[in-house]
Amino acid sequence: NPISESFVPCFSSRINSTSTSKIILTESTADYSLVLKSSIQNLRFLNTSAPKPQAIITPSQYSHVQAAVVCAKKDGIQIRTRSGGHDYEGLSYVSKTPFIIIDLFNLRSIDVDIENESARVESGATLGELYYTISQKSKVHGFPAGTCPTIGVGGHISGGGFGTILRKYGLAADNVIDAKIVDVNGRILDRKSMGEELFWAIRGGGGSSFGVILEWKLRLVRVPPSVTVFKISQTIEQGATKLFSKWQNIADTLHEDIFLHSVVGVGNKAGANGGKTIIIEFGSLFLGPVEKLLPLMQDNFPELRLDRSNCTEMSWIESVLYFAYISINESEALLRRTQQSKSFFKAKSDYVTEPISEAGLEGLWQTLIEAEAYLILTPYGGKMSEISDSETPFPHRIGNIFKIQYMVTWDDGKETEKHIGMMRRLYDYMAPYVSKSPRGAYLNYRDLDLGRNNACNTSYGQASIWGLKYFKNNFRRLVHVKTLVDPANFFRNEQSIPVFPSR
Ligand code: FDA
Repeated sequence: NPISESFVPCFSSRINSTSTSKIILTESTADYSLVLKSSIQNLRFLNTSAPKPQAIITPSQYSHVQAAVVCAKKDGIQIRTRSGGHDYEGLSYVSKTPFIIIDLFNLRSIDVDIENESARVESGATLGELYYTISQKSKVHGFPAGTCPTIGVGGHISGGGFGTILRKYGLAADNVIDAKIVDVNGRILDRKSMGEELFWAIRGGGGSSFGVILEWKLRLVRVPPSVTVFKISQTIEQGATKLFSKWQNIADTLHEDIFLHSVVGVGNKAGANGGKTIIIEFGSLFLGPVEKLLPLMQDNFPELRLDRSNCTEMSWIESVLYFAYISINESEALLRRTQQSKSFFKAKSDYVTEPISEAGLEGLWQTLIEAEAYLILTPYGGKMSEISDSETPFPHRIGNIFKIQYMVTWDDGKETEKHIGMMRRLYDYMAPYVSKSPRGAYLNYRDLDLGRNNACNTSYGQASIWGLKYFKNNFRRLVHVKTLVDPANFFRNEQSIPVFPSR
C-alpha cells in the first residue's frame, strides 16, 4: 500500500497528537532530507542512489514508537531504527526493501542519580551528552563506553561498546541494569517483563533484531578526581617495530588502571628522499596520578622511556575530550550531535591471541602503506578477562591480547572500489596472525563482507558464517531468543539474528 493510504492513517489514529506532520516526515515534507542526512556518518551511504525511507518517524513519546511498530508490521514495511547513525554499513538508515526509519534523536533525556550511582538514558542521547551530564553532577563518576562523543547510546550499548576504561570496568553493555524496549507487538517491556533471556540478548547482540530500545538504566562507575594521559609516537626508522613487539607482550597484563592502546598509521619519511613510513602512537589513560603511573611503566615497559614531561594530569571528563581530539577546555563540545568532518570509510576488525612475529609485522606495515589504511589496537585483559564469554552475547573475553580495528577513509566517492579492495587485501594478509575458527569480529564494527542475510528468511547455517564471528558460542542462544520474541522475523536487516524454522 502507498504509505499515505495505510501506514499514515494507522499511525495518526494511534497517536494522541494534533501535529502528526511533525512526527512523520515523508519525501514531500520540508525537513525529510535534512533529518535523513543529519546523522549519517559514512558518506558511502549519503549518495543519491542509496534507497530512501518511505517515511522518517521522529518520536517524542514512547507511544509514537509503539504506533510505528504496530502500523509498520500491519503493512509489512521494514523498520530501521536509528539512534546516532554511526553504523559502519548504514544499516540504521538504508534498506533495499520498502522501509521507514524510526529516528530517536528527540528521545534523549538523561537523568543521573549520583546517590544510587546510576543513570537513566534514552536511546537517542549521544555518548557526549551522557558523559557531559554525568560530569555536571559528579567529578568522580563516569561511564565505560566509546571515545567518539557523537555515537548514539541505542546502537552502541546494544552492540557492546568499549572505551578507555574497558580494562577496569568492561563494556558499556556490562554496565546495564535495566532497559525498556518496544517489542514486535508494540508493547513496552522492562527487564522484569521482557525476562532475562531478552535482557541478555540486547546487551551485545544488537538491538535491531529484537525491537526498538527506548532507554537504558546504567550503572555509573567511579573514577579518581585526577587521571593521567600521554601519547608517544615513533616511526619504524626510530625503532617502533621493537616497541610494538614489546607492547603486544604487556598490553593485556598491565594493571587494570592502565589503558595503553596503539594507533598505527602511515606518514611521510623524514628527510629529502621522501617515501612513506609507519608511525605508531602509544596513547594512554591511567586512572590515577602521574607518580603512580611512572613506576608501573618503568617496571613493565621501560623501552617506552615514559617521562613526567610526556604526561598530563586532568579530570576524567577532560580525558574524554582529549581522546576525542577536542580541546580539554571545551566540554560543551560534547553536546554537538554531529561530527565536524565526515568521510567515506570502510572498517574491519580482528582479535589477536598470540603476539604477531616481527616478520609478520614487517609485512603488515608494507600492506598498510599500500592500503593507505590505519589500525587502532585496543588492549584487553583486566576486567575483560574476568567476565565469562557467555555473560553477555559479546564473547571476546579471556585469551585476547588485543583487538584490531582496520580503517581506511577517503574523500572522493569515485575511489570507493579501490579503497574497499585494498582493505580486503589487508584483511586477507592478516588471516594467519589473528583468531581462527571462528575468526572473531566486533559487532559494532559492522562488516557486511562477513556475510549477509537473504531478503526474507535465512537459515541458521548461512547466518552462522557471520554470526559465529561476532558471537561465537552465543550465536545459537541469540537465535533461540529471537525465535521466542519475534518468530515471524519482523525486525530484520542484512545481519539481524535469524529465527529457527517453526516445526
Ligand atoms: P546507529 O543509529 O547507526 O545504529 C547502529 C545499529 O544499532 C543499527 O543496526 C540500528 O538499527 C541499531 N539501533 C540503533 N538504535 C537502536 C535502538 N534504539 N533500538 C534497537 N536497535 C537500535 N564503538 C566502540 O565500541 N567504541 C568506540 O570508541 C567507537 N568509536 C567510533 C567512532 C566512530 C567515528 C564511528 C562511526 C563508530 C565508532 N564505534 C565505536 C562504533 C559504534 O559503537 C557503532 O557504530 C554503534 O552501533 C553506533 O551506534 P549508533 O546508535 O550511533 O548507530
